[in-house]
Amino acid sequence: MEEKIFTVRLAQDGRAVEILDQTLLPNRIQYLRLETAEQLYEAIYELRVRGAPAIGVCAGFGMYVLAQQITGDFLPEFRRLGEYLVSSRPTAVNLSHAVDRMLSCAERHISCDREQLLTALKAECTAICDEDKAMCRAISEYGLTLVKDGDGILTHCNAGALAAVEYGTGLGTLLLGRERGYEFHVFSDETRPLLQGARLTSFELNHAGIDVTLICDSAASMLMKQGRIQACFVGCDRVAANGDTANKIGTRSVAVNAKYHGIPFYVFCPSSTIDFNCKSGGDIVIEERSGDEIKSKFFAQPTAEPEVKCWNPAFDVTDAELITAIITERGIVRYPYTDSLKKLFG
Ligand code: MRU
Repeated sequence: MEEKIFTVRLAQDGRAVEILDQTLLPNRIQYLRLETAEQLYEAIYELRVRGAPAIGVCAGFGMYVLAQQITGDFLPEFRRLGEYLVSSRPTAVNLSHAVDRMLSCAERHISCDREQLLTALKAECTAICDEDKAMCRAISEYGLTLVKDGDGILTHCNAGALAAVEYGTGLGTLLLGRERGYEFHVFSDETRPLLQGARLTSFELNHAGIDVTLICDSAASMLMKQGRIQACFVGCDRVAANGDTANKIGTRSVAVNAKYHGIPFYVFCPSSTIDFNCKSGGDIVIEERSGDEIKSKFFAQPTAEPEVKCWNPAFDVTDAELITAIITERGIVRYPYTDSLKKLFG
């Protein structure tokens, strides 16, 4: 029997965060033990751990690990470490959400003795992880109400268990459906330039026994025209109050294409990814990454000359009106999202 892999967890001794190094997939399964702030930053920045929910859970555990190492004035140092981790990737709000929760917890318990403070922080990061599992499971149940056995589903990037703790968001419905005997035909966009669809989604679905076909991002439109896609499933890194949604670069093209072909485009979103402080997508900071990821990272030889300029935004924003529905752990909401999200989440 295959050993069940995990994405992120607190080490048994509580002194480190353990992650699966996703940059090595699908060729190697190797776990890393992260003990310092620099190691945590590097692992998040380099996408060894990635996907908005997983980054949040990793940051929560990381803050607990780092808290145990503080010897001086606790709160200022804890805040400094939190800011440092948050600066590793700007778009996925789950990261700052988890760090803020750990900071608030520390502030509430700062007058307790050190052992009580650490116990409270451990409980908080464990809750962040457990809540993520529960949210992904609930989202997946709602997602199953939107599809039927035999459907063709297009995915972009990776929003599965590798991007969270269990099930994931966008792929959770497919994984849960598989457990219940549904046969989906999944088409996974390879997701240039970091190939999360090829390296992660096709790996994850293949190992779950789901029928998955890998396609170039540019092939999706033709599949839609051929009538082989009944729905598009994507995750998200930050959802603004009006429903504008940041997700992996290329997501917006999928949504525009889906609209043209009359195919539902669904965004799967735990509440930890909604940012009511962002009024619209224009307020979302989009991470820009090195051009080397386009030209050389996953190629045996460079595909462009070193002096060729690159523009490499890691995410784009899909306009709310292109999104058929947003599936959250509390239910399914539809456009206009300013009202429907506010109603659901108060
Ligand atoms: O750069 P990545 O791999 O962290 O980007 C991940 C995505 O865009 C996912 O779709 C998103 O985080 C949702 S994961 C449940």
